[in-house]
Amino acid sequence: MKFVICDDYEQMSDFAAGIFMQQIRKKPDIRLGLATGSSPIGLYSRLIAAYRRGEVDFSRVVTFNLDEYYPIAAENMQSYIYFMKKQLFDHVNIRPENINIPDGSASDYEAECRRYDAKIEACGGIDLQLLGCGRNGHIGFNEPGDFLHSSTHRTALHEDTIKANSRFFASSSDVPTHALTMGMGAILKAKKIVLIMNGPAKRAAFESLLDDRVSPQCPVTFLKLHRDVTVIADLAAAGR
Ligand code: F6R
Repeated sequence: MKFVICDDYEQMSDFAAGIFMQQIRKKPDIRLGLATGSSPIGLYSRLIAAYRRGEVDFSRVVTFNLDEYYPIAAENMQSYIYFMKKQLFDHVNIRPENINIPDGSASDYEAECRRYDAKIEACGGIDLQLLGCGRNGHIGFNEPGDFLHSSTHRTALHEDTIKANSRFFASSSDVPTHALTMGMGAILKAKKIVLIMNGPAKRAAFESLLDDRVSPQCPVTFLKLHRDVTVIADLAAAGR
C-alpha cells in the first residue's frame, strides 16, 4: 500500500486526476471502476477540464460504478446515475453504452446483481478502481459487519452511512435504506486501486490502514491484501 499525503482536497484531487489521466492515455479502452459521493467531485472536474483541453479521450473508456441506491429511479436527482451524469458523463465523450451502474429500478435485484457481475467479468474485470471510504470504513456499500460479500449484492445501509448521506437529502428519513453494491471480489480483483480520503471524519478509517489487521468490521482494511493500492489522503484525514 502506497500513501500519498496531500495538503488539502485540491492537491488530493490533482494527484488522483494525474493517475487517471496517465492510465487512460496508456490504455484508451481502460475499464474504470468509479465512485460517487463528495470525495471524487474534484477529480471528476479535473478530468472534464483535461478532456476540454484535448488531453484525455473517453471514447473507448468503459466504466463500472460501485453502487446505486435501491430502489430508486434513474431520473431521481438523488440517484447515483444522475450524480455521475452531472459530475462527469454529460461533460466528456464517453459512449452511453460504455457506462455501467447497478440498475436501482430493477424489479428482480438478485438477477440485476448477477447481471452486473457477469458484465464486469465479460469485460475482463476492472483495470483501475477509484474508491472513497465511509467514515465507518465502508468501501462501495460494503458495510462493517461479521462478514463481507464477494459479489454484487443488495445491502442495508449502515445507520452511520444514512446519517452521513443525509447531507444530500432534505432529511435522514429521505435517505434510501438499501443499495446495490459491487462486492469485495470485483474490487479486490481490480488491477490497480486508488483510494481517496479527505477531511477529519475519515481519520479513524485512515488510521485503520496503518497496521496489518484486516477485519470485516472495517472493510477498507481488506485493501491491505491487494498488491497495488495508492491511498491519497489530505492532512485532515491523515493527521500527520
Ligand atoms: C460511493 C461509495 C461510498 C463513498 C463513501 C464516501 O459510490 O461507494 O463508499 O465513497 O461513502 O463518501 P464521501 O465521498 O461522500 O465521503
